[in-house]
Amino acid sequence: MKFAPFVDSLSGEGTDAWDILTESRLALERGEDVIVLSIGDPDLHTPAFVIETAVDAMRNGDTHYTELEGRYSLRSAIAEKTSRSAGVAIDPEWITVLAGTQNAFYSTCRCLFSVGDEVIVLDPAYVTYEAAIASTGARQVRVTQPVDSGFRPDIEAIVQAITPATRGIVFSNPSNPTGVALNSNELQELARVAVEHDLWVLVDEVYGDLVFDGVHQSIAGLPGMLDRTVTVSSVSKSYAMTGWRCGWAIGPPELGEHLRKMALINLYGLPGFVMEAADAALRQGDEEVAVAREIYRKRRDLVVEKLGEASALPVLVPEAGMFLMADVRGHNLDAHSFAWDLYRSTGVSVLDAGAFGPTSRGWIRISYGVDEQHLDEACRRIVDFTQR
Ligand SMILES: Cc1ncc(COP(=O)(O)O)c(C=O)c1O
Repeated sequence: MKFAPFVDSLSGEGTDAWDILTESRLALERGEDVIVLSIGDPDLHTPAFVIETAVDAMRNGDTHYTELEGRYSLRSAIAEKTSRSAGVAIDPEWITVLAGTQNAFYSTCRCLFSVGDEVIVLDPAYVTYEAAIASTGARQVRVTQPVDSGFRPDIEAIVQAITPATRGIVFSNPSNPTGVALNSNELQELARVAVEHDLWVLVDEVYGDLVFDGVHQSIAGLPGMLDRTVTVSSVSKSYAMTGWRCGWAIGPPELGEHLRKMALINLYGLPGFVMEAADAALRQGDEEVAVAREIYRKRRDLVVEKLGEASALPVLVPEAGMFLMADVRGHNLDAHSFAWDLYRSTGVSVLDAGAFGPTSRGWIRISYGVDEQHLDEACRRIVDFTQR
């Protein structure tokens, strides 16, 4: 039988970097002594009140088809939250509820970009952006966020990369894998470029609640940006709800119409009980988010401190999120081999950050989505490994 060539366009660069995750998870299931630091799924539990809300909704019959664009109450809760980070009022009508940031990002790409377009992606970038953009037929143009600036945006290089075919700029803020949270100045510069060149900005803010110092700022609120920004996010990381698959896209009303059409053919509305749970999380979960943020901050500090004892392993201190990048070039120019050697000799599974793009080649990404005891032990093993 023949298959359509479409899926061939969906494998991004460096997809084999994830083999280490697959292998280490299987080893963990077999009861082997491995510590998996190669994934970003929070080990924290979804808050009990959120689960109760979903169960109640299911018991009360909320198990049918729902509104394609999502429930108004949930959209209002998302609008209230985003209005705070954007500093401007976001209309609930501008929000489409989708199946996680991932689905929101992909659906938005399909609505904004097409064959012949160029899309600027700040590199390193979250792995699935490449395939999502490729699925539209548009060409991805990676612009380096230089290592020596701590992987921060290089505005000059972005401007240089713009051509008449450029339609948008795509990035995550805060970033996975780097943990960089863009400051006001950087956001203003990016906004200025987008306005001057009439570009879309597609920003993934899934780690927005996990900024350790200061507050998360949404680029959508800057002058001239509301009409040209699509903000995608979800309840996944903030409320430890990755498996609930509830996310959203926020953008101008016309985008909502396009996304609604997309949802008609590929989602047909999120489950009502999931939306009720997400609504409860957003309205009543501020304390849980604050607790999660502190947990991640403590883990980050622990990893930074412990890896300080490693030999020739500089780290980039993350400002947000649940990942830390370490430069392994002092040991092995090929971070893929480093990650496998580390895994085979210590059982600690980390990711070759080259999977996120050429700029982060020679670096590994360490997730601190596991408890302090395991992190401490993992760091001890990494330090030993580097000293051998
Ligand atoms: C930057 C980034 N965007 C999106 C996702 C996926 O989020 P969601 O569970 O909301 O689809 C992840 C998950 O690791 C991520 O790191």
